[in-house]
Amino acid sequence: MEKADKIKQMLEKGIVPTVDNINNSNKTGVDIVHAPEYIPHKVNVKEFHEANREKFTTMKNLLMNRSELQNAVSISRAPQMESKDVTVIGMVFEKTKFPTGTIRLELEDLSGKMVAIISKKNEELLKKAEFIAKDEVIGFIGGCSKGIFFINDIVWPDVPQKNLPTTKEDVYVAFLADIHVGSKVFLKEEFESFLKWLNDDNDISKKVKYILMCGDVVDGVGIYPQQDKELEITDIYEQFKALAKYIKQIPKDKQIIISASDHDGVRIEDPRPRIPKHLAPDLYDVDNIHLVTNPSIIKLHKVDSYPGINVLMYHGDSFDYYINNVEALRLAGGYDKGSEVIKFFLQRRHLSPTYGGQEVLPMKPDPLVLHQIPDVVHTGHIHKSDIGTYKGTIMICSSCFQGRTSYQEKLGHHPDPGKVILLNLKNMKIKILDFNKEV
Ligand SMILES: [Fe+2]
Ligand SMILES: [Fe+2]
Repeated sequence: MEKADKIKQMLEKGIVPTVDNINNSNKTGVDIVHAPEYIPHKVNVKEFHEANREKFTTMKNLLMNRSELQNAVSISRAPQMESKDVTVIGMVFEKTKFPTGTIRLELEDLSGKMVAIISKKNEELLKKAEFIAKDEVIGFIGGCSKGIFFINDIVWPDVPQKNLPTTKEDVYVAFLADIHVGSKVFLKEEFESFLKWLNDDNDISKKVKYILMCGDVVDGVGIYPQQDKELEITDIYEQFKALAKYIKQIPKDKQIIISASDHDGVRIEDPRPRIPKHLAPDLYDVDNIHLVTNPSIIKLHKVDSYPGINVLMYHGDSFDYYINNVEALRLAGGYDKGSEVIKFFLQRRHLSPTYGGQEVLPMKPDPLVLHQIPDVVHTGHIHKSDIGTYKGTIMICSSCFQGRTSYQEKLGHHPDPGKVILLNLKNMKIKILDFNKEV
């Protein structure tokens, strides 16, 4: 097939015609291993219904892998069992906390509903239960008496402990998000300092091979009330043009991966498509760019001597719902401690377990289920860097290149701009570069 025909065919399928894609090679070291695509069509209620049933079954199957839940019975059967040893897997339909501290849960599965109680006497379990969100699917270990289920322990699907592979030489991955080109408070000088640093060819910058930008790369138009008053560039096409000018300044030996989010002119529902060519034609001219969906999993640096590292890129719009609705997450630090929210997602193997916590299109399989356990989870959205490790998985919340907007003030965000997080694949150590001029 002629090269021009191949590129045309790829663009029609929404595939970015990178050097690797065209040549069926992987010289860039970037492999997109999970990128849920939604084919737009008229959605009906049946699809939502089926997608929710499928989500329940998927989560239940993940839980069935847990040894503690091997003998789980259906919810229609459990209340009839007068036993101290009953296990069920259920979706949380309702959660009520009484003034005494006791928690009442209404649980359901495909067979029915039942009431379950966590006694105020079980302090340790109560602490765990503070993190329960609506609609999540959990394993419950307890006993039944007179038709009421008393919970002794709860089990989330969770992730296993993992050891990450390391490279022989220094290879840095740079994590960014929320650049917000076009905003009046886009930190132009700081971002230009970062680009200059990349071009300095210093001991570290020359070893940066991958640059990940996890959404909100432009500020967009009409995203929140009266945003136009806070825009320097009021046209989204011009915003992407300005972004592309910056991207083209990044040395060609570095691979750039960009996902789309709530400010980037694509639909609000997950899975979000790649930034389309009609919005940002100039980005499609860049050879070392990979435009990906939100969420997506990217394998980086798969070479002969290294198996590669899987990075889940998820902008993190769902952070807002969980920080505002799960009190324990708020008390754990809320917007200032994004890694706690990522940990919450990893334990649930889902990026937004509550129906409506984030707008998601009805798809089978559910695009937000974590079937594969990533080596690194990279998020943005909250404009504040935070780093953590959970069972060996590295959690990275990116900083931003935007000052504080009135909207963020209202949401209670405390941005910490101008930082770039670097991960060295040789030892999995993290460095934070600070380009913030204010400090
Ligand atoms: Fe943002
Ligand atoms: Fe965002």
